[in-house]
Amino acid sequence: MVTNPLVGIVMGSDSDWPVLRACAETLKRFAIPYEARVLSAHRTPDAALDYAASAQERGIKVLIGAAGGAAHLAGVLAAKSQLPVLAVPMPSKHLQGLDSLLAMVQMPGGIPVATFAIGEAGAINAALFSVAMLALSDNELAAKLREFRADQCAKVLAKTLPDLP
Ligand code: RP5
Repeated sequence: MVTNPLVGIVMGSDSDWPVLRACAETLKRFAIPYEARVLSAHRTPDAALDYAASAQERGIKVLIGAAGGAAHLAGVLAAKSQLPVLAVPMPSKHLQGLDSLLAMVQMPGGIPVATFAIGEAGAINAALFSVAMLALSDNELAAKLREFRADQCAKVLAKTLPDLP
């Protein structure tokens, strides 16, 4: 267990973990302490509310809420915390995550969540966005983010395409 997590990753089910793993791995790459919890807006509502209500006083700076289907989790976290909440829509069985995306992105005015792409790209970008926010007050982290982007840029520019036969 991490003692002083800065990011709280909350997912609605352990079935979300294979996607959220990419989020955790990205935070780890930047040495950001995080904690990952399974809490559901529907199945464990009191625990989800308690987690959100106490996150800030425990030193957490960013909450990432990931859920699929009728995906209320990020909104529920935002309802009980002033921390920035990043929402990651999980791919769902019948609607491929479009339901999750619309549930998250259509928050009524007043309680915002920032919604990312469906699935792994969203999981990675929620982590990178957390890094960018934390880097505002951490020069060392800002340098690491610059290096990550420069690396990524060099890798893309080095790509070649096959010649036609
Ligand atoms: C949501 O329901 C979870 O976030 C998950 O994406 C989806 C399905 O959950 P399981 O039935 O696999 O536990 O609350």
